[in-house]
Amino acid sequence: MQVARWHRSRLAAACLAVLIAGCSSAAVTGPADRPPANSGLGPITFATGKVDTGYLQPLISQWNAQHPTQRVTPIYLPDDADDQYAQLVANLQGHSSVYDVMSLDVIWTAEFASNGWITPLSGSVIPPGQFLRPAVETATYQGHLYAVPFTSNAELLYYRTDILAAAHLNPPQTWAQLASDATLATSRYHLDGYGGQFQSYEGLTVNFAEAVQSAGGSLVSATGAPAVDTPQASAALTFLVSGFRDGWIPQAALNWNEEASRRAFEAGTLLFLVNWPYVYGDASVPGPGNVVAGKFGVTTLPGLRGPGSATLGGANLAISAYSRHPATALAFIRFLTSMASERYILLRSALPPVWTSLYSQPSLVAKFPFLPVLKQAILAARPRPALIDYNQFSLAVSSTVHQALAQRISVSAALAQLSAELRQILRAG
Ligand code: GLC
Repeated sequence: MQVARWHRSRLAAACLAVLIAGCSSAAVTGPADRPPANSGLGPITFATGKVDTGYLQPLISQWNAQHPTQRVTPIYLPDDADDQYAQLVANLQGHSSVYDVMSLDVIWTAEFASNGWITPLSGSVIPPGQFLRPAVETATYQGHLYAVPFTSNAELLYYRTDILAAAHLNPPQTWAQLASDATLATSRYHLDGYGGQFQSYEGLTVNFAEAVQSAGGSLVSATGAPAVDTPQASAALTFLVSGFRDGWIPQAALNWNEEASRRAFEAGTLLFLVNWPYVYGDASVPGPGNVVAGKFGVTTLPGLRGPGSATLGGANLAISAYSRHPATALAFIRFLTSMASERYILLRSALPPVWTSLYSQPSLVAKFPFLPVLKQAILAARPRPALIDYNQFSLAVSSTVHQALAQRISVSAALAQLSAELRQILRAG
């Protein structure tokens, strides 16, 4: 109660501060300007995971040229969501001001906001009605905006067009088709059949949630109780475990995150891959380690009885509560999330924008033909539960599912154990 009251008053004060600072920042752009003390203007850092950040340095150089007294320095965080989380949290718990703007995975908003680690923002920083609604919801906690949506995400199924054509097959829409095609790939074409993010970390929680949803279930019920001791979750886990047991998912995939699975697909050793849209950009450019440019396609995830359901991913930009220059931080966030920047980021790194209109611009669709499909996948994607304890929740999911995939525990024992663990976490949360 005490905490909630403190949080509300702090929230009001901080909202106001950011609004005022945001207004004044627009006027300060001249190269000769020296920001007055306490203006909230000055040099800042931008912390972001380092996967596919080819877009970043050109945009930062552009910003720095126009704002010499408010220069931005990038700080690259590790590849994996879990490692990024650990690094950010360690710094924020120590009230460190080392990060000003942080690119936050959509799953962290509740925890970071409730701990007072990020600054609440006025809703007016988002252009009304222009951003994908589900992305805006991931940046909102208890009715307040805490970050600006930056990139959205929904996983897609990548497939080798050359192999499917040779085998006279269409991209699979069901798990049965996928398993049969993947099995054929191993015997007839000496390829690995199917890959995804099966290392024990957030990516596995995403893959498992997608499988459960694609069987018609969900990890958490509408009333907030765990829903993993169910026929849908059992069908999902059985599907993935049978891939490892029957050999159409390679054992190596037990250690794959996004990047490791991308590399396997680009090396030409995999028929099917579940991964995020950034892989489309990377795999389209031929080069050392990539033999699949021009030989792959993407479609929506398959499911138990027909098309499946993706998990909503993405990143939001937040201002650290310990930033010394929050006004510059907000102005930089506005710059990075402008339509022009997001268009550039899509073209350069194939990261899904949050501006709805970019999904139907003809020149963009010509380069990324899957954009309309991706927009539908994002709009239909399921968010992960917005829990303060999300990290605990996800660790329980990924570690138990990983044990089942490695066949150290049966499907039914894994789901019973997971259900009990999640019940405790959800009750405490
Ligand atoms: C991607 C998604 C993010 C997800 C992560 C899992 O970065 O955008 O939401 O949590 O992958 O590895």
